[in-house]
Amino acid sequence: MTMMAESEAGQAARITRSHFGGLPAQPADALLALIGMYAADPRAHKIDLGVGVYKNEAGETPVFAAVKAAEAHLLAHQATKSYVGPEGDIGFFKALTPLIFGEGHDTARLCGVQTPGGTGALRLGAELVAKALPAATVHLGEPTWPNHAPIFAAAHVPIARYRHMDLATQASCFAEMEAALNAAPAGDIILLHGCCHNPTGVDFSPQQWTRLAEIMAERGLLPFIDLAYQGLGDGLEQDAAGVRIVARHCPDLLVAYSCDKNFGLYRERVGALFVVSASAETAGIVQSNLLALARANWSMPPDHGAAAVRIVLESDELTRQWRAELEDMRLRINAMRTGLAALDPALAFIAAQKGMFSTLNLTPEKVRALREDHAVYMAGSGRINIAGLVPGNLAPFAAALAAVRG
Ligand SMILES: Cc1ncc(COP(=O)(O)O)c(C=O)c1O
Repeated sequence: MTMMAESEAGQAARITRSHFGGLPAQPADALLALIGMYAADPRAHKIDLGVGVYKNEAGETPVFAAVKAAEAHLLAHQATKSYVGPEGDIGFFKALTPLIFGEGHDTARLCGVQTPGGTGALRLGAELVAKALPAATVHLGEPTWPNHAPIFAAAHVPIARYRHMDLATQASCFAEMEAALNAAPAGDIILLHGCCHNPTGVDFSPQQWTRLAEIMAERGLLPFIDLAYQGLGDGLEQDAAGVRIVARHCPDLLVAYSCDKNFGLYRERVGALFVVSASAETAGIVQSNLLALARANWSMPPDHGAAAVRIVLESDELTRQWRAELEDMRLRINAMRTGLAALDPALAFIAAQKGMFSTLNLTPEKVRALREDHAVYMAGSGRINIAGLVPGNLAPFAAALAAVRG
């Protein structure tokens, strides 16, 4: 063996002993695989209810005209790309505040930062509570958005679960939730969907919000509201009712906000974390912690999408245009809900649910049969995106569901 050959053999041995060899492989994103299967399906009548984004009647997810106008303004007038800061665009944060908390909300106890999407807001909030309340558990209502548990797990916050709704009856499990909250130790965190529950569409009534807020206030629990779909349920004001009720009852509150759906900005990653705390003094301390956590995560958030939202919200004309575009989306989703519910009494619950998603009580075999036999694509959990429906496919979809139900 030559010296050269020895060193090559040694090199080969070193390469097979990777530092990453101990990593377990992770499952691929099932929804991405579904997108691929749908694209490859040649059947003209195929129906895509799998994706998580809004689609119009043409099956497109267009850029809002109000956002396009704001982007044109940004392109023409932006004078620098210099750094912003870990808090992001302060004008964006200020413009969102009345939309979420209402006009005239006391901002002295409010702090927060712009984040990369609602996901970034959830992660930052999870890290904040992990630091402030190291013994706390977060309570998640099941089923929930599949990323909630991994986000809290990544921040080392233990997770407890209760039932949010019963898939078989499509009824809310509110009594079980009340019991879970009443049994939770003070200081635990309660994660709530502000509106348009993903994946069930089962939201709380204002009366239920008040009851939850009373329990959380009495028991010293910390509400953490995920508000990712404001304006896509009952309307912009109505969809913020839960946040506002909780803010009136509880001394502290976190809101993870996303503009990615209600401004159609998905890939621009636009969100914010709002934290209400008991006093202006604590708000200052919380803010300093948020800035430190943000610096250690992403340093500062991406600017473009948030700047476009700010320009929209600072202009009366663009705000009117944005509200009208959002309202069209909301009305289209609700028309598909009532249209589908009217076709089959077994689907009546769909009309009462809110937002883009509902989850049907289907076994994985039935989900597969819908895909293979009827060209209907949905998540393996039975979650459907109502925005994938159009007037022309409501009846074939209802018929396919009836066929697999047998
Ligand atoms: C309930 C819920 N929360 C948060 C998010 C995160 O939104 P973003 O895309 O802004 O990170 C989503 C996105 O699907 C969601 O459904």
